[in-house]
Amino acid sequence: MKQLIEALKKSRRTAALTGAGISTLCGIPDFRGPQGLYAQPDAERIFDIDWFDRDPSIYYRGCRELVYGLKDRSPGPVHKALKHLEDIGGLDGIATQNIDMLHQKAGSSTVWEVHGSPLLHHCRNCGRAATFDEVCAMLDGKEAAFVPRCPVCGAAFKPDITFFGEALPEKAFAEAQALAIRAEVMLALGTSLTVFPAAGLPRLTLQGGGKLFIVNAQPTPLDRFAVRRYPDLAEFAEAVLSLRQA
Ligand code: OAD
Ligand code: ZN
Repeated sequence: MKQLIEALKKSRRTAALTGAGISTLCGIPDFRGPQGLYAQPDAERIFDIDWFDRDPSIYYRGCRELVYGLKDRSPGPVHKALKHLEDIGGLDGIATQNIDMLHQKAGSSTVWEVHGSPLLHHCRNCGRAATFDEVCAMLDGKEAAFVPRCPVCGAAFKPDITFFGEALPEKAFAEAQALAIRAEVMLALGTSLTVFPAAGLPRLTLQGGGKLFIVNAQPTPLDRFAVRRYPDLAEFAEAVLSLRQA
């Protein structure tokens, strides 16, 4: 990790792009890793907007634990390492593909959720909002296929997670792009770098003359553009947590 740590010490503006791999250290499964969510049959329907409108119970059944179990999850070593990097200076911000809200729980101040979040849900018909806690309360004690519905019009509540077939949240993605463009060092952490447009963010850093470091167990399509790919996120977190203020 020496090369990466040296680059972090020199960098005046570091950005991070995080993915589901950083939360496997908190017991949350990723999507495309060996134990990932997409290893289940028909899992690609879970975050698909057309399937949601046809049958919202596919999402609620598939995500009962993954999303609505988040109230009991705590930040892991990588979340803490990024908060530490912010505290000692140098971390400009985080673009995350994760929907688990754990960077915020760790105390990071600049987090752009490019795939949205379940913090709010909206009725698919009338747009009425429900908070994450309200939806958790509706689900409490109900069977796996239960769909929380709008009290006004009866349509399903959908989380503000970006499903396949939906546009990314505009402001969050624009801010993430700006972060990537001005970064001297981009850290791609625990992401397969396969879902676009988020996976294109490190390219903006490279085009702006910045350096890319990847920490991910499996190879990614951007490995050849990176200074290096390291496989071990726990080792990365430990190395960053031992950094002291310059
Ligand atoms: P993926 O599941 O595609 O990639 C996670 C990567 O993390 C895998 O390549 C794993 O090898 C790696 N990994 C897991 N645990 C690790 C560990 N302890 N140490 C090192 N590496 C580890 O997740 P994302 O790239 O985040 O979209 O997926 C992108 C998007 O696809 C997600 O945001 C999600 C999904 O569809 C939505 O939910 C809208
Ligand atoms: Zn409604």
